[in-house]
Amino acid sequence: MIEQNVSLRPYNTFGLDAQAKLMARVNSIQALQEVLADSRLKSEERFILGGGSNILLTRNVDGLVIKNEIDGIEVIDETPSHFLVKSGAGVVWHELVMHCIANNYAGIENLSLIPGNVGAAPMQNIGAYGVELKDVFHSLKAVDMASGSVHSFSSSDCDFGYRESVFKRKLKGQFVITSVTLKLSKNPNVNTSYGAIEQELEAMRISSPTIKEVSQAVINIRQSKLPDPKELGNSGSFFKNPVVPTSKYEELKSQHPNIPGYPAGENTKLAAGWLIEQCGWKGKVVGNTGSHAKQALVLVNYGNATGVEIFELSEQIMQSVYDTFGVQLEREVNVY
Ligand code: EPU
Repeated sequence: MIEQNVSLRPYNTFGLDAQAKLMARVNSIQALQEVLADSRLKSEERFILGGGSNILLTRNVDGLVIKNEIDGIEVIDETPSHFLVKSGAGVVWHELVMHCIANNYAGIENLSLIPGNVGAAPMQNIGAYGVELKDVFHSLKAVDMASGSVHSFSSSDCDFGYRESVFKRKLKGQFVITSVTLKLSKNPNVNTSYGAIEQELEAMRISSPTIKEVSQAVINIRQSKLPDPKELGNSGSFFKNPVVPTSKYEELKSQHPNIPGYPAGENTKLAAGWLIEQCGWKGKVVGNTGSHAKQALVLVNYGNATGVEIFELSEQIMQSVYDTFGVQLEREVNVY
């Protein structure tokens, strides 16, 4: 069934009130193929919506929103050391994480509480607290929007990078991800190397953590500084952490001795939150929007912001970081 004039407010974590001219909810590959092949809809612009956690809507969608609601989680194979766990793209990411922890499938506990659906995870190679999706990725299935045919993608086909994949670059707008298969370990090898996790586990008085305890530590950290989209509209980090030549980092460090920097191959990754905070934006409210008081990298909607307002704030922040540090920030969020 095709719905008409649907408000997208419940379907984007910024809580922005854009309208979709048409919307189709699909819960299987076949349902998706039918919508793609429908001759009455052929001329409509198509917009694929998952959990809506990485999108800034600055205008109405004058076309067809396809809402991916393909669900189901199953173990499709196992080896002595691993389970292959396949999840529908419409599953809420955190629900997949909780399911895996309950069954002792290890590897995604550090990715607890990331907003969004499973289908969006490979799009931008989600990452947090020392783990990225690509570390546990096995393969995915995606439907070619032009032909309706189903394709399999291996990890190398996805060409993952920091918050990047082929689906944000070369194949942008061409495929709908329908399922993702992860290779999860039977022998948990917890990764607590990210400083904040170690500190939190210490505060929890836990020395040899289980995956459930690592997940709880991550949840505690995230809840302490990242706003819950149900209470305050946001889409997590609005910008990527910029990667600059190490010589540029050294130059900045000579002027700003406290500047955080993390090795990234030959380059150095800077902390966008730090740069933004130094420019005075942290906690600043501008109209209905602002930079979050506990994590400057997160832009929020205080209730009635428009996408354009948030976009304009992001432009101002980018300009001031550039003027102060000579560093160009890049948005992590997709702007529509
Ligand atoms: N910092 C500040 N001020 C701020 C925020 C951060 O000075 O307002 C400094 C911190 O003190 C620290 C450094 O910046 O020295 C890094 O901060 P943090 O550990 O909070 O992580 P982040 O680099 O700001 C990234 C991811 C997050 C992920 C965390 C934890 C990106 C764009 N963001 O943030 O991912 O949860 O690391 O791994 O890479 C997301 O992508 O939506 C997201 C939330």
